[in-house]
Amino acid sequence: MEDEIKLMKEIKIETVLQVYDTVDELPRDVQDLMLKAVESRRNAYAPYSKFNVGAALLLDNGVIVSGSNQENASYPSGLCAERTAIYYAGANYPETALLKMAISATSQNKPTLSPIPPCGACRQAIAEYEVKQNKPIEIYFMGETGKVAMSKSLENLLPFIFDKSAL
Ligand code: THU
Repeated sequence: MEDEIKLMKEIKIETVLQVYDTVDELPRDVQDLMLKAVESRRNAYAPYSKFNVGAALLLDNGVIVSGSNQENASYPSGLCAERTAIYYAGANYPETALLKMAISATSQNKPTLSPIPPCGACRQAIAEYEVKQNKPIEIYFMGETGKVAMSKSLENLLPFIFDKSAL
């Protein structure tokens, strides 16, 4: 038993987030990006969940692409805002690196005051592009108002990612 304890190794993984008290504290370009996410959030088609999400992506060529969640009566056919945006970028700017993503989410029933992180499926989708471009994508996320959390990379939000190295 004691031998087993000696052989066992523990791996500790830390996720570090930067937290800004308000949007006004963000760097200027990120404020603009978050504004695009908020504008896009208003285009969310979310009659079922009543939860609106907007995402905006800044590309290395200065272009900003955005997306919002699009739901469907057949629930799983809907898509999150982050994937709507990143797949648009991948489809239209396949050779351009993705630098920053801003996300804003809120419920139609109540104001969302704390940062809403991207769901696991979206993290996996974003991870694909971060691995593809071999360059971190900064992720900024917030609710409707209040604090904004920032992750310096997607990898930081999704330790032990499944990627092409496993295939
Ligand atoms: N949603 C997103 O757009 N992004 C996320 O990261 C989490 C969830 C959407 C999916 C669905 O339309 C609604 O929010 C409620 O889950």
